[in-house]
Amino acid sequence: MVTEKQSASKSALLLASFVSGHAMTTHRMNIRTKIEILKGDITKVTVDAIVNAANTSLLGGGGVDGAIHRAGGQAILHDCRKIIAGQGSCKTRQAVITTAGNLKAQFVIHTVGPVWNGGQKNEAQKLADCYKNSLQLAVDNDCKTIAFPCISTGVYGYPVNQAARVAVDTVTEFISHSDKIDKVIFVCFDDDNFYFIKSQLNYKVYTVPSKLFADNEIIGTVNIGLEDDGMGVLSGQLIPTDKYSKYRDFFRKTFIEDRDDNLIRINKFTKDNKFKVVANDGTEFKEPVAGLIIYDFDREPIQVELNGIDNDIWGKYYK
Ligand code: APR
Repeated sequence: MVTEKQSASKSALLLASFVSGHAMTTHRMNIRTKIEILKGDITKVTVDAIVNAANTSLLGGGGVDGAIHRAGGQAILHDCRKIIAGQGSCKTRQAVITTAGNLKAQFVIHTVGPVWNGGQKNEAQKLADCYKNSLQLAVDNDCKTIAFPCISTGVYGYPVNQAARVAVDTVTEFISHSDKIDKVIFVCFDDDNFYFIKSQLNYKVYTVPSKLFADNEIIGTVNIGLEDDGMGVLSGQLIPTDKYSKYRDFFRKTFIEDRDDNLIRINKFTKDNKFKVVANDGTEFKEPVAGLIIYDFDREPIQVELNGIDNDIWGKYYK
């Protein structure tokens, strides 16, 4: 069995090897082979440029910014000070480049992500511009390989799932129009970012039309995508039935209570609520190893995921 925890700790090498293309066109394949996901510390990555989620002062901070300055040493700060002296503060969305000091990378590209403000302050566009401007600056400096942290998803509070969508869409778009970048690595420090970036990369092969039950009532239908990444994760968008509203408050309340985790793990509640997912072919995903997760945010679509599929079930679809 593959648990979510085991999945999340798999090595970068393994992750990089997911790039498989049963259902993809050659063009998509080329883009896919240029993107990797890595769970870990960006200061340890060997690429031409690593990106820093900085603030407008460029003088360092906590999170990934602190880690980069600590590992890279004073030379980075020195360059940052020169930039600030020359242009003033670094604006949100802007990207600037410095030495990487003692790091393995050659350069650090510092970009200032948006502070999350409920989504009404053009945050998505600002975040997209951070990725775009960083990639362009990398190209301008002949960098062919670049590593990104999950910008704005720490102190700046950008919802991890939404940030992942922006990150993956923007990077994919950029590299599909430029042959100057050979590799982009998303370096995710925590499980949630890792999971959402991976989901956004959409390694899907088979679609399994299914129904979500609660207390033996159908509360939604979902075309679950069986991901081609060997991780035993099924995910898809839930189309709720009328009955879903009975459970919505429960999902949202549970989600808020579990905010740290960002997940609703329905398997915690199986006894009382009898949630289950049944594929239209009769296969019952009743007790996923790491849980059934429903991302019921204020805005639909509602995302459903089953984490940790039994090998037998996996084998049934994944041949
Ligand atoms: N490697 C990769 N990612 C890391 C590392 C690391 N060593 N350390 C933290 N992260 C991750 C966090 O888990 C988070 O997902 O980087 C992501 C971005 O979080 P922050 O570093 O808090 O950046 P951000 O949300 O953009 O906020 C920027 O934080 O430290 C300050 O100076 C920085 O004021 C600025 C603000």
